Amino acid sequence: MGRAPFPGRFAAYGRGMPDLPRLPTSPGFWRSPLRGRWFTSVLGLVLLGGITVLFVTGLVSYAAYNPNLHPVNDTTPDKGILGFYLFPWPTGPVWLYRFTQGLHVTLGITLVPVLLAKLWSVVPKLFTLPPARSVAHALERISLLLLVGGGLFEFTTGVLNIQLDYVFPGSFYPLHFYGAWVFFAAFVAHAVLKTPAAVRTVRRRLREGDESNESNERDADDLAAPDPDPPTVSRRGALWLVGGGSLLLFLTTVGQSLGGPFRRTALLAPHGGADPAGGPNGFQINKTAAYAGIDAAETGEEAWRLVVTGRTGTVRLSRAQLLRLPLHSSSLPIACVEGWSTADQWWRGVRLRDLAALVGYEGDPPDVFVESLQRHGAFRRAALRANQVADPRSLLALYVNGEELSPDHGHPARVIVPAAPGVLNTKWVARLTFGDL
Ligand code: HEM
Repeated sequence: MGRAPFPGRFAAYGRGMPDLPRLPTSPGFWRSPLRGRWFTSVLGLVLLGGITVLFVTGLVSYAAYNPNLHPVNDTTPDKGILGFYLFPWPTGPVWLYRFTQGLHVTLGITLVPVLLAKLWSVVPKLFTLPPARSVAHALERISLLLLVGGGLFEFTTGVLNIQLDYVFPGSFYPLHFYGAWVFFAAFVAHAVLKTPAAVRTVRRRLREGDESNESNERDADDLAAPDPDPPTVSRRGALWLVGGGSLLLFLTTVGQSLGGPFRRTALLAPHGGADPAGGPNGFQINKTAAYAGIDAAETGEEAWRLVVTGRTGTVRLSRAQLLRLPLHSSSLPIACVEGWSTADQWWRGVRLRDLAALVGYEGDPPDVFVESLQRHGAFRRAALRANQVADPRSLLALYVNGEELSPDHGHPARVIVPAAPGVLNTKWVARLTFGDL
């Protein structure tokens, strides 16, 4: 006699009773021999480290926008006490945001297979009945709902934001920011409860060796299927598969944050691949001049004026007049919130602090409010802190790599500040207003 077509999915509930399908709420429904506490524990420990780093780098990214500085930088104005930790973002090392945000995005993508495998490994638990045995049990299950829902939400919104740009109702930031706090609160509660058991399980396995005591373990392991199908791959093999998936995602993403020849390996990153063009202006951008609604007529020599306002009034400067001011050079990267960044580019232009001096701030530059000609999209306006203005490497750039800025890189003038997120390096600058914001 052959096996029933769906062994285990159907079970006799008593002598003379017809075979009834088992439901996901029945432990026998789940047949994979891979599920078990060791498998779940290893994945849990990887997530413990990985998600903690993701949370910290996410908060750091939020601080880099200087949301305490000006409402236009504040993408989550109702953050309340969640902004308790905010601090003035430093200007060095110049690769700071490149590193923290590259880590955040690359690690997030790399952890996707681990998260999915972890959820798969515990999915039978989500169906157990009764849904709540006591008030304490009910609270634990609600926290699991926030953990699983929050985890899926954070990973999905993060990946969609990178891959599809702005697809969210309203802004991505409040969704990802508030979601992160809910998810991480549930994550901490779960980690506090489960880490000791996970560490014990992994230690015991390391001490006692491989899959030796499988059947004895299974008796004490309520994550293991009571009636498993024969294995087609070992748990260790399955972990290698998950690790291999993560490695593949890592290798096809990380190049977008390394730049140079590595960019070509970032096959899964929308801003990966080869640089968009050759020549001095041939490095990545996020928004083209056309997308931003920049009209070539308003950036020409005749029409464009930079309006600088401060303590002593307002000055209007043509590009030719700007070029007669002392010009300085800085080697700085562009680092985007989406994780991609460029190698250092060689910028040349007027120091922001020299422009502050023109309007009455000699030696003590204050914050600055920067406005662009840009018509569409977020960050048409941005504020920079006094420490960013004062840094001698912070420029209103007119040239890059020895050539005039191209329209897509912000011609006729753009801001470039060390270690700042890309969107604070405003392109197509029209107005600078110095003063305490
Ligand atoms: C995104 C992060 C995570 C999610 C979504 C998640 C989800 C879950 C869920 C839904 C369960 C079943 C809960 C139950 O009813 O018992 C579970 C169990 C478990 N988790 Fe996590 N988890 C995560 C991270 C972690 C971490 C960081 C650890 C610890 C290192 C961990 C270790 C465990 C262990 C050992 C179990 C099995 C508990 C048992 O035997 O009953 N998990 N996880």
